[in-house]
Amino acid sequence: MTRVLILFGPPGAGKGTQASRLSAALALPHVSTGDLFRENRAKGTPLGKKAQTFMDAGQLVPDDVVLDMLFDRTSKSDCREGYLLDGFPRTIPQAEALSKRLAATDRVSVLNLIVPDDVLLERITGRRSCKACSNVHHVRTAPPKAPGRCDKCGGELVQRTDDTTEVFGKRLSVYRQQTQPLEGWYGRAGNLVNVDGNRAPDVVFEELRQKAFPEQRGGRV
Ligand code: AP5
Repeated sequence: MTRVLILFGPPGAGKGTQASRLSAALALPHVSTGDLFRENRAKGTPLGKKAQTFMDAGQLVPDDVVLDMLFDRTSKSDCREGYLLDGFPRTIPQAEALSKRLAATDRVSVLNLIVPDDVLLERITGRRSCKACSNVHHVRTAPPKAPGRCDKCGGELVQRTDDTTEVFGKRLSVYRQQTQPLEGWYGRAGNLVNVDGNRAPDVVFEELRQKAFPEQRGGRV
């Protein structure tokens, strides 16, 4: 049986922050499609170059590109018993493609982080991300110990090119139109749990950890 935990929510909801901790707590590899694209961009691969235009405009990367990359990652041996998805699925076709890859006995759990829009904007524009390890800080709520340096690895902290007020507005609107309908898709199957993400990170983490795989919740989609 494979366990698939999906961290769901709009840009800035705290998916990446919580995914790192949950990955360690639940012993599931953290698979972030955004991080995979950014790694490819940093290496200058054809995949990274293709994704760049969409990401910088706040648009979704086309499904076929995302699916090839994602399934290539989840077919690695460390994902055999399960994995934690951050930023995937983002469209109904992506969710359908994932569903087709899974067996009837596999467990899927979707944790939906709810955060008000004004808080999302403040988090996104204040976020600083490590170039080396993708760890995130925030200028106000999670500042690094040494200015401009990641607490985890000492790498350089930078502002993502899509973390501007303007691109955030586009990302949020794309989220509402193309990604939020998945709440209904997973909700109907009984796989979705809403979690208030507008609380201290430790409090949010504890609730996510407890609700990650409740016994026999919902069916498989
Ligand atoms: P992606 O990298 O997935 O971005 P996203 O979904 O927009 O999410 P973010 O990374 O912006 O936010 P987050 O929820 O992880 O928040 P975080 O924990 O960092 O995708 C980027 C782009 O790639 C997309 O726009 C698209 O182009 C493309 N892409 C990726 N996947 C795709 C797919 N499947 N299909 C098509 N295209 C795809 O937190 C944010 C900040 O808030 C941090 O500074 C953090 O310190 C702070 N913070 C977090 N939690 C709290 C808290 N509880 N209290 C206070 N501050 C907090």
